[in-house]
Amino acid sequence: MKSPATNMESLADGSGQAVGWMLRADDCVARVRPWPGEPGTVQLITLEQSAPPARVIHRWMEELGRAGVRLIRTGALGPTIQPAYLECGFSVRQELSLLSHGLVGVRGSVVPSESLMLRRGRRTDLASLAVVDRSAFGPLWAMDVHGVADACQATPHHRLRLALEGSSVIGFAVSGRAGRSAYLQRLAVAPESQGNGVGRALTVDALRWARRQRCTSMMVNTHVENETALALYRSLGFQELAYRLAVLERPLP
Ligand SMILES: CC(C)(COP(=O)(O)OP(=O)(O)OC[C@H]1O[C@@H](n2cnc3c(N)ncnc32)[C@H](O)[C@@H]1OP(=O)(O)O)[C@@H](O)C(=O)NCCC(=O)NCCS
Repeated sequence: MKSPATNMESLADGSGQAVGWMLRADDCVARVRPWPGEPGTVQLITLEQSAPPARVIHRWMEELGRAGVRLIRTGALGPTIQPAYLECGFSVRQELSLLSHGLVGVRGSVVPSESLMLRRGRRTDLASLAVVDRSAFGPLWAMDVHGVADACQATPHHRLRLALEGSSVIGFAVSGRAGRSAYLQRLAVAPESQGNGVGRALTVDALRWARRQRCTSMMVNTHVENETALALYRSLGFQELAYRLAVLERPLP
């Protein structure tokens, strides 16, 4: 994919390797990353809370098309943002339930067994976390190293927690805080370690962190058919909101 000159700035990681673009048009800004494992597909994340106007989305589509992109997939969008993209020919790829926790009465144990340890994650852990993420979510919805780093940077404050058995990373959680609102951004447990209380321990740890940070709520979203995650969140006191989020996508000609 080559980068056109206008409105598109290449993003590089610490080692100078190209990892995506920033798109600008009018006052709107979006970050674009290659979708891991799907050549020609990118994820487009707008950095404002409001929807970009349709003319801006069209302009971005043209620019990305010229750069060789074949499919644009959005992040999880709320109901007020979706119409602008739907108007531009995007369709729903995945529907997500949104759940909220009021952070009162957080129950449960942080460490369910003696062999499990939780510790803070570091930048040097990102490669192991990406492996766990891929094994938990599968190749299509997995986050690579840059995706996990983005999840950490999505809010002004974050907490990255790892679950370890011996020296092996078997799970992780990324939580974030913006003002008094907390978000469980990502939760993954390696398939061979699932069903042993690791996901519950990481979620309780995230809820307690949010409460210590004096947040008033923690939000999480998950695929509407992810019964395992929904059962976990509901059992800890999360409640589903009336509206859903959606990941939208649009092939480019
Ligand atoms: C969701 C996930 C993090 C749960 O982690 P886990 O370590 O397997 O979960 P736990 O062993 O702590 O179980 C916690 C609860 O989840 C639910 N659960 C676990 N396995 C389940 C299954 N096979 N079916 C239905 N519910 C299940 C139960 O409510 C369970 O509580 P219980 O043991 O008291 O009945 C893990 O399955 C995972 O990584 N899945 C893929 C990625 C994902 O969906 N991430 C989160 C959503 S974005």
